[in-house]
Amino acid sequence: MSNTSSIALNDPKIIVALDYATAPPAHEIAARLDPALCRVKVGKELFTAAGPVLVESLVARGFGVFLDLKFHDIPNTVASACKAAAKLGVWMMNVHASGGSGMLRAAREAVAGESQQPKLIAVTVLTSLAQSDLTDIGMQGDPATVVLRLARLAQGAGLDGVVCSAQEARALRAACGAAFNLVTPGIRLADTSATPAGDDQKRVMTPRAALDAGADYLVIGRPITQSADPIAALQRIQREIAAGTT
Ligand code: C5P
Repeated sequence: MSNTSSIALNDPKIIVALDYATAPPAHEIAARLDPALCRVKVGKELFTAAGPVLVESLVARGFGVFLDLKFHDIPNTVASACKAAAKLGVWMMNVHASGGSGMLRAAREAVAGESQQPKLIAVTVLTSLAQSDLTDIGMQGDPATVVLRLARLAQGAGLDGVVCSAQEARALRAACGAAFNLVTPGIRLADTSATPAGDDQKRVMTPRAALDAGADYLVIGRPITQSADPIAALQRIQREIAAGTT
């Protein structure tokens, strides 16, 4: 078995973001992807359009599904939503760390009571927020400080990890230890011919560099989904990771 496939089969590091407006293209690409090589992410757009049925069908195909709904509400409501998500059989789900420790603990307890327990991770600071936005909403400190504070809050409440930029991964790994999961979007290949047209990601890192910085899982959307051959794009990323190309 090659190094590439053994890495993937144990614990696929790549999470393909299924950012589609309707179910058919999500089903279409899922039929072409191999659950042994990648996981998939369903976010608010696709979930709102296609619902739990789509999630269940991805789970039935054998995919580890990251349900990216970023719950943020009163503890009871978030706990109930987390229970409902766990019952769909998802592999990972998330909540906002800024919901506070009561909400985070309620989410943790709700998931712990389910027979299939997804990984429960937190969003710290949305990367769309700048320093001035944090000040506007009354958050003290620069974004890096707030990210660290919220990551520690999530860890203290028993969550399994956070979504973060690959640029933050090294500091979070040092602060939160080896077992804390770091899930990083904003990944682009060293081979820039795979960069999607009109790309809006600014602070990007290659897959290998993100893993070297401490990321556990890489969320990758358009470099795979907009490729003419998504399987070939995924395999190219696997090769890039195995070869250590940064
Ligand atoms: O197509 P691309 O690789 O940029 O997709 C990245 C995915 O990660 C998208 O689903 C996007 O919403 C998500 N994401 C992100 N940046 C964050 C958090 C999530 O790009 N800070």
